[in-house]
Amino acid sequence: KYCTAIVLAAGSGKRMGTKVHKQYLLMGGKPVLYYSLRVFEDSRLIDEIILVCGAGEEDYCRQQIVKKYGISKVSKIIPGGAERYNSVWNGLQETREGYVYIHDGARPFVDEEMIERAYECVSEYHACVAGMPSKDTIKIADSDNMVTETPDRSNVWIVQTPQVFDTGLIKKAYAVLMEQEEISVTDDAMAAEQISGTSVRLFYGSYENIKITTPEDLDIADVFLKRKS
Ligand code: CTP
Ligand code: MG
Repeated sequence: KYCTAIVLAAGSGKRMGTKVHKQYLLMGGKPVLYYSLRVFEDSRLIDEIILVCGAGEEDYCRQQIVKKYGISKVSKIIPGGAERYNSVWNGLQETREGYVYIHDGARPFVDEEMIERAYECVSEYHACVAGMPSKDTIKIADSDNMVTETPDRSNVWIVQTPQVFDTGLIKKAYAVLMEQEEISVTDDAMAAEQISGTSVRLFYGSYENIKITTPEDLDIADVFLKRKS
């Protein structure tokens, strides 16, 4: 089936706290965003990439990333919105039928094997999400930091991207979501779970598939990069 990747790069990186948005910071001499684009570009399964960036950053992305590094599958560079789900929504408008891989541009360590595991998974389950078993015990707390619950660690997963769906299914779920007055989804699977009642299947991402979020993540990323080269 036709596979579109939506790569999200419209965030402002508040937790990173740098003037340059984190997806454009250099890692081994290239922007963070370059790495995930490269993996989707080189994937035998991906037909098209839609890049969602901050309004006003389109030219920078086109010249300094897409053209400079020859990412030929990028068919559109479009502006995102205030929240991640606004950016996803904008990206979804540009997709055609098939499967859609929604990926955080701030996760440079996605790889081809993950894209292939996702394809198998989405073919069978229609909605699936990269994740890994949590290494840490997770506690649920109330607003006073009092522990209210400790989920059984063997059932706890940390979710990542790509999150991969039948395009029609996720478009419908997001269309309903966007009509709601208060939107509280933090990932795409939540839209599928809550709105369309779809069961979402987890497939293995990797422990390296980190999201560059705070400054120490860049140090960790350097270690992973060096190990790869
Ligand atoms: N993202 C986006 N549009 C937004 C918010 C986030 O496209 N309005 C993208 C980010 O660029 C990133 C991914 O979604 O690739 C995951 O979001 P996150 O790690 O939260 O990035 P930021 O929102 O930029 O960071 P922060 O939450 O620290 O401000
Ligand atoms: Mg954010």
